Amino acid sequence: MKIIDNIKELKEEIKKLSGSVGLVPTMGALHNGHLSLIKKSVEENDKTIVSIFVNPIQFCAGEDLDKYPRTLEKDAQLCENAGVDIIFAPKVSEMYGQDKNNLTLICPPYDAVDKLCGKSRQGHFDGVCSVVAKLFNLTKANRAYFGQKDAQQLFIIQKMVKDLDFDIEIIPCPIVREEDNLALSSRNQYLDEQDRLDALSISKALFEAKKLVKMGVLDTKKIIDNSLEIMKNLDVEYIEFVDMNTFEFTETVDKNTLALVAARVQNSKTRLIDNMVLWD
Ligand code: PAJ
Repeated sequence: MKIIDNIKELKEEIKKLSGSVGLVPTMGALHNGHLSLIKKSVEENDKTIVSIFVNPIQFCAGEDLDKYPRTLEKDAQLCENAGVDIIFAPKVSEMYGQDKNNLTLICPPYDAVDKLCGKSRQGHFDGVCSVVAKLFNLTKANRAYFGQKDAQQLFIIQKMVKDLDFDIEIIPCPIVREEDNLALSSRNQYLDEQDRLDALSISKALFEAKKLVKMGVLDTKKIIDNSLEIMKNLDVEYIEFVDMNTFEFTETVDKNTLALVAARVQNSKTRLIDNMVLWD
C-alpha cells in the first residue's frame, strides 16, 4: 500500500493503474462504518484508493475543524489490513494552494441545501461537493463509495454526478451501528460516558418511529411527537421526513420515506445525525 500526500505523485500512480478503481473519500479517524465502504470497494474493484482529508472548506465557522480527530497512522494500518492500494492524504495547501478562500466551487442548488443539515451548516455542501469532485478528477475512479449515514450528502453527490455528467458510479452503503444501535461516527469520540448514553435516544426514536409505522401510524406529526418525547434529553435540531428519491418533505409515510434526525447531546454539545427508512 502506498501513502501519497501530493497530487503529482498521485497522478503518476493513477496512470500506472489498470482495471477498475474504487474510491472511498473520508476525513479519517476510520471506524467500522468507513471500513464497510472500504471492504465493498476492495471486493468490487481491482484497486482501491482511500482519501483521508479533513476538508476545511466544508466546516463552518465555530465548528470542530481544529479538534477533528486526526489519526493517520492508525488509519493507515486499518487500510493496509483491508487491502487498500493507495491512501491519498494531502495537506490543505496541497489540495487548495495558499488561498482556500478563493477557489472555484461546486454549489448544489438551493432546494437541495436549504433544509436539514444544509440549513444550519451554510456552505457545507459546497465544500463537500467541491472536494469530492476534485477527488473524482484526481483519481479517475470508476466507482465511489458513500455511506447512507450522511443521507443528504449522498443525495447531493448523486445529483452532482447526474447534473454534471461525472463518469463515475456512486455506490450507496448501509449505515453501520454499534451493538446498542448508535450509528458509528468519527465524532462519537467526543462523547463522554453520559453523552454516549444520551445519544442512544436518537436511534431509539428512529426505531420506535419504524414500529409506529408498522402499527399503521403514517402521520408524521404523530411520529414526531413520539420521537421528540424519546429525545427530550437532547437538543434536537431537526427531525424531518423526506421522500428518499427527491428529498422533498412529506407529511405521510410511505415506502420511500426517510426519517432524518440531527441533535446535540447536552454535555459536550456534539452534533450527531442519523436516519432510517421507516417502511419494512
Ligand atoms: P466522513 O465523515 O469521514 O465519512 C466518510 C464516508 O463514510 C461517508 O460516505 C460517510 O457517509 C461514511 N460513513 C460514516 N459513518 C458511517 C456509518 N456509521 N455507516 C456507514 N457509512 C458511514 O463524509 C465525509 O467524511 C466527508 O464529507 C467527505 C465525503 C469525505 C468529503 O470531505
